[in-house]
This record gives sequence, C-alpha cells and structure tokens, in this order.
Amino acid sequence: MKRDFISITDAGNRLSSLITSAVKLKAELRRGTGHVKQKPLSGMNVGLIFEKSSTRTRVSFEVGINQLGGNALYLSSKDLQMGRGETVADTARVLSRYVDCLVYRAYENRLMRELAGHSTVPVVNALDDTEHPCQILADLMTIREKFGKLKGLKLAYVGDGNNVCHSLMLGAAMSGVNFVAATPSAYAPSEKIGQMAASISLENRCSIEVITDPQIAVRKANVVYTDVWVSMGQEAEKDEKEKVFMPFQVNSRLMALADSHAIVMHCLPAHRGMEITDDVLDGRQSVVFDQAENRLHAQKALLVWLMKR
Ligand code: CP
Ligand code: NVA
Repeated sequence: MKRDFISITDAGNRLSSLITSAVKLKAELRRGTGHVKQKPLSGMNVGLIFEKSSTRTRVSFEVGINQLGGNALYLSSKDLQMGRGETVADTARVLSRYVDCLVYRAYENRLMRELAGHSTVPVVNALDDTEHPCQILADLMTIREKFGKLKGLKLAYVGDGNNVCHSLMLGAAMSGVNFVAATPSAYAPSEKIGQMAASISLENRCSIEVITDPQIAVRKANVVYTDVWVSMGQEAEKDEKEKVFMPFQVNSRLMALADSHAIVMHCLPAHRGMEITDDVLDGRQSVVFDQAENRLHAQKALLVWLMKR
C-alpha cells in the first residue's frame, strides 16, 4: 500500500528514525558518499504542485530530488488545467500515471486529502491550511542537533495558532517534548488537533498546553518558536491581526524569560519587526537558517522512505 505524508502523525513511530536518516544524509552530502553516489531515486519522477508561493519548500524539494538521482517537475496550479477547473481528483488520477510521488502545497486540507485519496502514488503535504509537516520534520531534526535529544525539552510557540503551530504541537507530542502555545484567544490552534496532541502526549509523558500569556509560556523554555501572524491566503485580515498580535512579538525582553541557552526558531519567511525583531532573528540564539537548510535533508529522508520499492 502507498504511504502519504499529509500530517506529521503519518510518520508514526518512524518519526525518530526519519530524523536519524536525515542526519545521515546530511553527513553523506558533506562527504560526497552514500546517496550522493548511489542515487536511490534514479529513474523516478516527482511532481510538485504549488497553489501558493514558496522559496524554501520548492527549492529544497527540487534540489533534494536531484541529489537523490530523481527528476522534479514543478507544476504551478495556475498552469495546470486544475487552475481552469479540472478537479483535484482527476488531476490525481492522471498524474499518478506519470510520476512516482506528488508533493502538493494547497490552500485547503480538504483538497490535499482529495489528491491523496485519488492518487496511486505517495502524496506529501508541502503546506496547507491545517498542517506543515515537512517543516516540522526539519525543525525536530534541528532541535535534536542542537540539544542532542528531544524528550523532556520545553518548546514555547508564540503567535498564531496556525498550520505550523498544529504540526509542531503534534510533532512535540510524538517526541516527548513539553509544548506550550501562547496565542490570542481568538487565534488559538484547532481544538481537534489539540485533543489529538494531548492524547499522543500521554504515551510519551509530556505536556501540551494552550494559553494566552506569552511571558508565562516562554518561562524557562529551551526553544522559542514563532511564525508569521498573517499566513498565505489571510491577507485581508492583516490590519486586524497586526493589532491583536503585537503583545505576542518575540523580542529580547521576551527572550530574557526563556532558559539562557534557549534557541529561537522561525520557519521563515519572517516579517521582521512584527512577529520577531531583527536583533532576535539575527542574534546568537537564532537557528532559523539551520532550520531552512534541514528542510533539504529531512525531505530527502522522507522521500526515500515513501518511495522506496
Ligand atoms: N518555511 C517554508 O515553507 O517556506 P516557503 O514558503 O518559502 O516554502
Ligand atoms: N503559516 C505560514 C507558513 C509559511 C511557510 C503560512 O501558511 O503562510
């Protein structure tokens, strides 16, 4: 049966070993050994369907697929017949006859699931309105690289209860990381995802909390994470959101409350001076460019797992 990666939970009990594989692929790339020579995706094609803009996801997938010996096809939804009304289901049925895997950045999780439901090849969620699991795979890898472990750490997410927050909450629960999100009450993460994370956390003996006070959230945190206040597709809410979210800015005053060895994370792109200040984003605690780099390694590990015959 084909495997999809629509939610970070689709990694199941493979999550930790996927991170280990990603670390190995990273070392191999530096040394020019292993997959660099063996090209595990040789002769295989991956279609990348994008409905929204992207810098990191698009480039890290294209480069990663090439490094694995495969071929990447960038397919903007505007240029596909999908942009003129062909259904996602029919697009899935057709593209499955040509390619070995589909990576999809979608506006709606419903359409992501429709593509996966009608595709006979693995489907990878490259971000939708509910989750951003590839990002969180790279982020967990980055945290493990920095601290040598995940279990028992405290991660504070400050900002909008959005797609990144959802995958992070689930990924933390799966990894034994104590997670707290501080969001304005009107922008809290989905209750359904919160309940799912809470139930996963029971098995891994960690805590999952959602509160509204960023100062309480970051207290003694090992990791402070933020993301944009206005996600792609929410542009009309910009003015209103910017007012409500200002007390949730990650700045040096907030960082002073975290553990003194804490790292700061952001999936990027950042809106400097809004959710995060320049001094924090460019400061000694920031690991944002390691996170961006690790997208490459983590997604390669994911593709090898999903596509191996
Ligand atoms: N973090 C992330 O997914 O960035 P892009 O939108 O540039 O792909
Ligand atoms: N929450 C952001 C993440 C961008 C990578 C968005 O959906 O636009």
